[in-house]
Amino acid sequence: MQQDDREKIIRHKPIARINHWAVVICFLFTAISGLGFFFPSLNWFMNILGTPQLSRLLHPFTGVVMFLLFVFMFFRYFKHNFINRDDIEWAKQIGKIMKNEEAGDVGQYNLGQKGVYWAASICLFLLLLSGIVIWRPYFAEYFSIPVIRIALLVHSISAIGLIITIIVHAYAAIWVKGSVRAMTEGWVTRGWAKKHHPRWYRQIVAKEREEDKKGQ
Ligand code: HEM
Repeated sequence: MQQDDREKIIRHKPIARINHWAVVICFLFTAISGLGFFFPSLNWFMNILGTPQLSRLLHPFTGVVMFLLFVFMFFRYFKHNFINRDDIEWAKQIGKIMKNEEAGDVGQYNLGQKGVYWAASICLFLLLLSGIVIWRPYFAEYFSIPVIRIALLVHSISAIGLIITIIVHAYAAIWVKGSVRAMTEGWVTRGWAKKHHPRWYRQIVAKEREEDKKGQ
């Protein structure tokens, strides 16, 4: 292995990156067209999928595709997103985090990232359920007007919840230098791992030592 390769640590495999960016593309189409339907001042957003009519037709489909693609992400990242005692320690040091200083013995993901994972999962699940209830002409006719009204409210609230979550997620990803490359090229430097996710870094080093021993 070359020195340069030794400096890189794989954080996201190609299949995970393709999956993530496919979700992002579906999210952008669905969220932008949805905002266009919701706010009269943003009606021009309805052209995102060609014409307003096409957006109205395709919005539920891009939403369902986003949900299905996210299901793979959900299971891929599930085991890394359990909230534990170290996360509570991290949260107690929120002052330090806001000053861009490191806090606590963070594993593969910090509490903020775990929060994004769970918030996105809950919002997407609610969006799918409520979306089916209000989907004309296919399913809405099977539900009563009061149920459709509740579903519309749930759909709007969870859409706003998801959009805010993703804005925070994208901002954090850009703010922590080296994170975006983890999701575009798949790797991080040892310095990045040691600084932002020290417990995860120790696990990687322990694994490498074991593999080196086996290879000898
Ligand atoms: C719009 C721009 C987005 C950007 C720039 C972005 C960027 C990133 C980056 C850089 C990572 C890797 C973080 C790390 O390894 O520490 C990541 C992970 C992740 N992203 Fe995104 N992302 C975006 C949108 C989304 C959307 C729309 C979703 C889902 C609806 C999503 C869900 C996730 C999840 C679940 C992870 C795995 C980490 C975790 O479990 O918290 N992202 N993203």
